[in-house]
Amino acid sequence: MNDTARPKRLHIKTFGCQMNVYDSERMADVLAPMGYVASATAEDADLVILNTCHIREKAAEKVYSDLGRLKVLRAEREAAGAGRMTLAVAGCVAQAEGAEIMRRQPAVDLVVGPQSYQSLPDLISRIGTGDRVAAEFAADAKFDALPKARAVSGPAAFLTVQEGCDKFCTFCVVPYTRGAEYSRPVAAIVDEAERLAAQGVREVTLLGQNVNAYDGAGPDGAPWSLARLIRRLSEIAGLSRLRYTTSHPRDMGEDLIAAHGEVEALMPYLHLPVQAGSDRVLKAMNRAHTAASYLELVARIRAARPDIALSGDFIVGFPGETEADFQATLDLVEAVGYASAFSFKYSRRPGTPAAAMAGQVEDEVKSERLARLQALLEREQQAFNRSTVGRTLPVLFERIGRNPGQIVGRSPYLQGVWTQGPADLIGRIAEVEIEGSGSNSLSGKLVVKSAEEAAALEAV
Ligand code: 5AD
Ligand code: SF4
Repeated sequence: MNDTARPKRLHIKTFGCQMNVYDSERMADVLAPMGYVASATAEDADLVILNTCHIREKAAEKVYSDLGRLKVLRAEREAAGAGRMTLAVAGCVAQAEGAEIMRRQPAVDLVVGPQSYQSLPDLISRIGTGDRVAAEFAADAKFDALPKARAVSGPAAFLTVQEGCDKFCTFCVVPYTRGAEYSRPVAAIVDEAERLAAQGVREVTLLGQNVNAYDGAGPDGAPWSLARLIRRLSEIAGLSRLRYTTSHPRDMGEDLIAAHGEVEALMPYLHLPVQAGSDRVLKAMNRAHTAASYLELVARIRAARPDIALSGDFIVGFPGETEADFQATLDLVEAVGYASAFSFKYSRRPGTPAAAMAGQVEDEVKSERLARLQALLEREQQAFNRSTVGRTLPVLFERIGRNPGQIVGRSPYLQGVWTQGPADLIGRIAEVEIEGSGSNSLSGKLVVKSAEEAAALEAV
């Protein structure tokens, strides 16, 4: 049987951040010419790729338990005569501990780090005969070598513009797994965004581990800031909404803050992790900002865009964190009023400076602090969602809902919004009068009655 006789099934399981979601889509794009089509389950897949995350111990360990399950599945499938299942591990765990994966789980055929996805067809054909392959982790021109065409699955898409991190927060593995900061050139990003818009994408989220440190080469060779890139992308016809994530408070330049007040397509939502509220802990984390300087930054951003929804990441139980330090985190959260947030127990990552620090906090203490922090963040999220009830918000509809006649989309503030409405509104932006709110979503009624009406309004 030759390569094109039967579509081969590809199942990619994605862990971790949105960069991995983007990378998984690009891996599927790279493999499509080999005849691979996406499969929602591993059971019937000829190739299974785990796109892994190394950020916390739990995420990394999950890979090994998944691999154990896949090994059994593969044996059953092969015993049933359904053909070989190739097992690949990609992403940050592959990058950080490829040799360890090969040693711990002999069923793995391939490990491949995030900089080498363009080589997947070659690597997979090398496995063909049963060889095991550990890809080299050279940071070569990954983006240039990826296919230009992207399969898109809805009106909102991710676009990686920057990778890597030079900040070296003492708890974090990213500078070691994803390497130094690298920004893609402006022309390549504009080209990718134009292609997405031509395929019906209305909203693009620019991704980077430190996206606001973006300094890619402009057409004249001089570096462009993220703000300048956003202004350029906002000129692309059809791209109505732009977002970016994740940002470091240190790199929040004046021009980016100003863009929030001036660029209509730039959505009023900002993920700006602070991690902790105690200056002593922030210093030990090597965050290079204080609680006061963060609050002052938030004030400047809100002056430019008063309705902006802020989101953050928090770590509790960093080494040496006292009850008073933790209280400072709660105080900061109260002072900001977050619209959404992610919070984690500190996880000791081998090789990072914090892993060797004195004063590691007991797990029970971390759990108890996390519960208190999450209760506060949940109240703030509910309060934010409630504050939008009664307003009429433009919603980009992305999919049909669970109940008959329901369609679901996102508000400018990234809230999920559901309403009764025609399915042909999917891919369009239409106004919804918000009537109800929960902690995770809003509901309301459509102001327009049909897709034609929405199209006419969008055209004005
Ligand atoms: N332990 C817990 N959380 C961590 N993060 C990064 N490293 C760790 C760690 N060792 C969190 C930070 C970061 C988010 C992506 O993950 O809050 O912003
Ligand atoms: Fe990790 Fe800090 Fe870099 Fe974010 S800024 S990726 S938390 S080192």
